[in-house]
Amino acid sequence: MSREFVTLVEMGLRDGLQNEATPVPAEVRARWFNALAGTGLDRIEAGSFVSPKWVPQMANTDQVIAGIKRRDGLSVEVLTPNQKGLEGALAADADVCAVFTAASESFTQRNINCTIAESIERFRPVAEGAKAAGKRLRAYVSCVVGCPYEGAIQPSQVAPVVEQLLALGADEISLGDTIGVARPKEIHALLDAVLPLLPVKKLALHCHDTRGQAVANIYASLERGIRIFDSAVAGLGGCPYANGATGNVATEDVLYLLDGEGFDTGIDLEALAAVGNEICDFLERDNPSRVGKTFKA
Ligand code: HMG
Ligand code: MG
Repeated sequence: MSREFVTLVEMGLRDGLQNEATPVPAEVRARWFNALAGTGLDRIEAGSFVSPKWVPQMANTDQVIAGIKRRDGLSVEVLTPNQKGLEGALAADADVCAVFTAASESFTQRNINCTIAESIERFRPVAEGAKAAGKRLRAYVSCVVGCPYEGAIQPSQVAPVVEQLLALGADEISLGDTIGVARPKEIHALLDAVLPLLPVKKLALHCHDTRGQAVANIYASLERGIRIFDSAVAGLGGCPYANGATGNVATEDVLYLLDGEGFDTGIDLEALAAVGNEICDFLERDNPSRVGKTFKA
C-alpha cells in the first residue's frame, strides 16, 4: 500500500541563517542547498530578497541561487516582501515567491515597516507579477498564536489576514508560530478558524520550537489533515537579540515523527542528519536537533 505523502519545506538557509550573528558566504549557502536537495528535499527556501540593511545575512541570495544545481521537482523558494524583492526573485528564476505579513500590527511594523493593511497593498503587484511570470505564490502569516510585543493573538485576528492573502491569489498559506508559544489546544482553535477558509492542501504550519512544543503541534495538525510543514535542518535559527528564541523545528525531528506515523516524505533522514551535523560544525554550534544528534559520529 502506498503511504500518504507529507511535504516538508526546508527553512534552514533562510529562517535559520537570517538569525546567525555572522553572515555565511553565498557559495557555502549554495553548497548546503545542493546537499539538502540531495537528501530528497524538493522544496527549499534559498534566501530572501529583502533589504540587506535590515537583514545582512540574506544579502547575495541571487548568488546562492546561481550556484544551485536544478533538477526536476526541485522548488527554489524565496521571500519577496515588495516589488523590488519580486524583481530579484524573477531575475534569479526562483520557483516560489513568498510574501509575509502578520496577525499582529506591532510585529508587522517592526518586521516590514508598515501596517498589515499596507502590507496587503504592497503584495498586490508582487502577486500579480509572480503569477504573470508563472511562479507560485506562498504567503506567511506570522504571530498566529502569540506576538513578542502584543502577547496572545486570537484566531479571529488571523482569519481575516488569511482571507486577504487568499484574495490576492496566494497558492499556499503558511501559519507561523513565530515565537514558539503555541500548544496543541491553541493550534486546534486556530485551525477551527482557518480551515473553513481554504482547502487543507493549501495550508502549511510553520513552527518555531522555542518551548519544545513544535512536534506536538505538528502531530495535532496532522490529525486535522495538514500535510505541509516548514522545518529547518538542525533546527537552525534563533534570534541573537531575543532571549531563548530558537529556530524552526528541526527537519530531522519532524522526519522521525512522520516516519513513525507511516508517512512518506521522499527524504533520507540519515543523509539529512549528516548535512545538519556538517552545518553545525561549520557554524561551531551545538546541534539542537535531538534526532540529528543521534547520528553524530
Ligand atoms: P522600508 O525601509 O520600509 O522600504 O523596508 P523602502 O521601500 O523605504 O526602502 C528602503 C531601502 O531598502 C531602500 O534602499 C530600498 O532600495 C531598499 P536605500 O535607498 O535606503 O539604499 N529595499 C530593498 N533592498 C533589497 N531588496 C528589497 C528591498 N526593498 C527595499 N526587496 C522592507 C521595507 C520590507 C524592504 C524591509 O522592512 C525589510 O527588508 N525587512 C526585512 C524583513 C525580513 O526579512 N524579516 C525576516 C523574514 S520574516 C520571518 O522570519 C517570519 C517567517 O519565518 C514566518 C514566522 O516565523 O512567523 C516568514
Ligand atoms: Mg519563521
